[in-house]
Amino acid sequence: MNVLYTKDTVKKFLLSLTKSQKTVGLVPTMGALHEGHLELVRNAKENSDVVIVSIFVNPTQFNNPDDFAKYPKTLDKDLDLLKNIGVDAVFVPENQEVYPESPMIKIDFGDLERVLEGAFRPGHFNGVGIVVSKLLNIVKPHKAFFGQKDLQQVAVIKRLVKDLSFDVEIIVVPTVREASGLALSSRNLRLSPEQREIALVLFKSLSFAKTELLKGEQWLNVKSEIQNQFKHTPEVELEYFELVDSEKMKVLDGLQEGNPISICIAAYVGEVRLIDNISVNH
Ligand code: PAJ
Repeated sequence: MNVLYTKDTVKKFLLSLTKSQKTVGLVPTMGALHEGHLELVRNAKENSDVVIVSIFVNPTQFNNPDDFAKYPKTLDKDLDLLKNIGVDAVFVPENQEVYPESPMIKIDFGDLERVLEGAFRPGHFNGVGIVVSKLLNIVKPHKAFFGQKDLQQVAVIKRLVKDLSFDVEIIVVPTVREASGLALSSRNLRLSPEQREIALVLFKSLSFAKTELLKGEQWLNVKSEIQNQFKHTPEVELEYFELVDSEKMKVLDGLQEGNPISICIAAYVGEVRLIDNISVNH
């Protein structure tokens, strides 16, 4: 497995492939890898000849400096996992390599980022848009793999690719969960064993709300029931619980025909902010 630290070494690695016409799959990550990331890698291996994983904790997408500082870093373990699963190269740039200067441009995703993560994490999707653009330009993959766990990120990246004509196919991989239902997340490493139990309330709320909706219950009633339950759960602070059009990221007040619909949640368990979502009709 090649561990590449610079854009130049990535370029050389890619040059060694050009004659063989192999398809390249990119899995962008911020490290602290878990089974969710590995599922993206497996998908990438099935769908491309050469797999490159990037590990870079991107400062420009963190609106909260403390969250950035405390983001888990487990590079040695990450490299072992990637070597065992059999990726061809890992791109692990230093900050200076990605940001020789702070970017002057800003990416505004319009209505796609006025709700959910975009609303609660100002500037987050600007940072995601910039770093993903840079990674696509550096690695020039044929396919790039993203998790459904970050539903709004998927919507934003698909739009980025369309608006800037990136020549890449975006492949979306379903969320990997623990048997308990808890969505795998690098931030789970920051939860105590008790908090991990408490965090199950996110998926339980999503599943309950989906069942109620499909039984014909009105969304606004379901939502206020969930909000009430959270008021009685002091260990968890609910940030949002919304029904959305999964592609347009439009907040809905009930089920409707047409686009896929999801329920999205964000909540703090102690100091750790977790997100999750469940699809309702697809
Ligand atoms: P990170 O949080 O490390 O996630 C990397 C990829 O793994 C994302 O596409 C994310 O949706 C996916 N992922 C995370 N948890 C998952 C799970 N439980 N099941 C399936 N996929 C999961 O998302 C980012 O990094 C960054 O924003 C990035 C795209 C790398 C840009 O910096």
